Parts: sequence; C-alpha cells; structure tokens
Amino acid sequence: MPANHLHPPSGCLPSSLGELRITRLTSEHLDTILALEQSAHPHPWSRANFLSSLTSSHHAWGLWRGPELLGHLFFSLAVGEAELLLLVIARAAQGKGLAKLLLGAAITSVRPCARQFFLEVRESNTAAIALYEGLGFNQIGERRNYYPGKNGGETALVYGLDLEAWD
Ligand SMILES: CC(C)(COP(=O)(O)OP(=O)(O)OC[C@H]1O[C@@H](n2cnc3c(N)ncnc32)[C@H](O)[C@@H]1OP(=O)(O)O)[C@@H](O)C(=O)NCCC(=O)NCCS
Repeated sequence: MPANHLHPPSGCLPSSLGELRITRLTSEHLDTILALEQSAHPHPWSRANFLSSLTSSHHAWGLWRGPELLGHLFFSLAVGEAELLLLVIARAAQGKGLAKLLLGAAITSVRPCARQFFLEVRESNTAAIALYEGLGFNQIGERRNYYPGKNGGETALVYGLDLEAWD
C-alpha cells in the first residue's frame, strides 16, 4: 500500500470517555494543537515545529471527543520504516488508555507498508516507556546527551517495534 494513502481508522472508537474519533490534522488545527501541547507536554514543540511538520510529508492524527482534541500523534513513514515523532494526551484524559488507542491505531495502519516502527524517548519518561514496552517495543539503543537540559543533556532511549511480528 503506498504510504500517501495511509489513513486513520474511520468511525467511532469506544472508550471509557465515550465515543472518540481519529482524524488527520492540518494547519487549520494549529491553535488547538498548540493549546493541547502547551498544557500537557513538559517539553512542548513550538508553533514553528508544528507548522513545519503539518506542511511536510509527516502524518498527523488527532483524537477527538466531539470538538475537543484529547490527543495528537505525529509520525513519519518512508522506505518501510515508521518513526514516532510526538505523542501527547490531554492531562485530564491521561491514564484511560487513550495513548494506547491512538498509537495502536497508527501501528495497525502502517503495518501494510512498513517493517519497523522506531521512536526515541527520554530515559526519565517512565510513563511513555511503560506505554511503548506494553505495546511490544524493545529498546535497541541509546543516545547520550541527546535532549538539551539545564543540567546537561538527557539520554534518549531508542526503541523499535518489529511490525511483521506484532499482533
Ligand atoms: C505518555 C502519555 C502519552 C501516556 O498517555 P496515556 O493516555 O495516559 O496512556 P494510557 O492510558 O494509554 O496508558 C497505556 C500504558 O502506558 C503506561 N502508563 C501510562 N501512564 C503511566 C504512568 N503515569 N505511569 C506508569 N505507566 C504509565 C501503562 O503501562 C499503561 O498501561 P496500563 O494502563 O495497562 O497499565 C501521556 O502521559 C502524555 O501525554 N505525557 C506527556 C507527553 C509525553 O511524554 N509523550 C511521550 C513522548 S513524546
């Protein structure tokens, strides 16, 4: 399947927060995306980061309850490899399985056109690490001093998911 035909699951998705939808995000959603990012991400992307990503070949999906954006996920897909760029869930909606739902939907969609799904995560981000390992990602490396910080750089852990073996 060509990567440019990749689309999120259609229809309503049941969750403990009621029926949700996943749709593609565009630069029309920029203000809504920024509001969610700045309220929920300890190291938020800037407006320029989002604009650049939304106008590139990246895939950007939003998780909605009615008009309310509860989460967003950005990933790239090229030559059989997907890479998670960003995943955020609104603080009030965390701990209810939504990240698992959104990332799980992305994994299912890329499977026909990719062999591996990669990501990098701060070594201090225990919640995200538990999420990724719970979905089957395995640590395959690390990059020291990867993320800039006030007290020196923070190590990035590199994770990979073998999509051919994933179920
Ligand atoms: C990391 C994040 C996306 C998780 O979203 P979430 O919707 O709360 O996660 P889920 O409810 O789907 O949880 C799925 C799994 O993640 C793990 N997890 C989630 N929150 C956790 C926490 N606070 N502590 C430990 N494990 C946690 C658990 O293994 C959980 O599975 P379980 O419920 O069966 O135990 C969310 O905390 C977030 O947006 N954080 C800020 C941004 C960020 O760090 N993004 C990741 C790097 S870009």
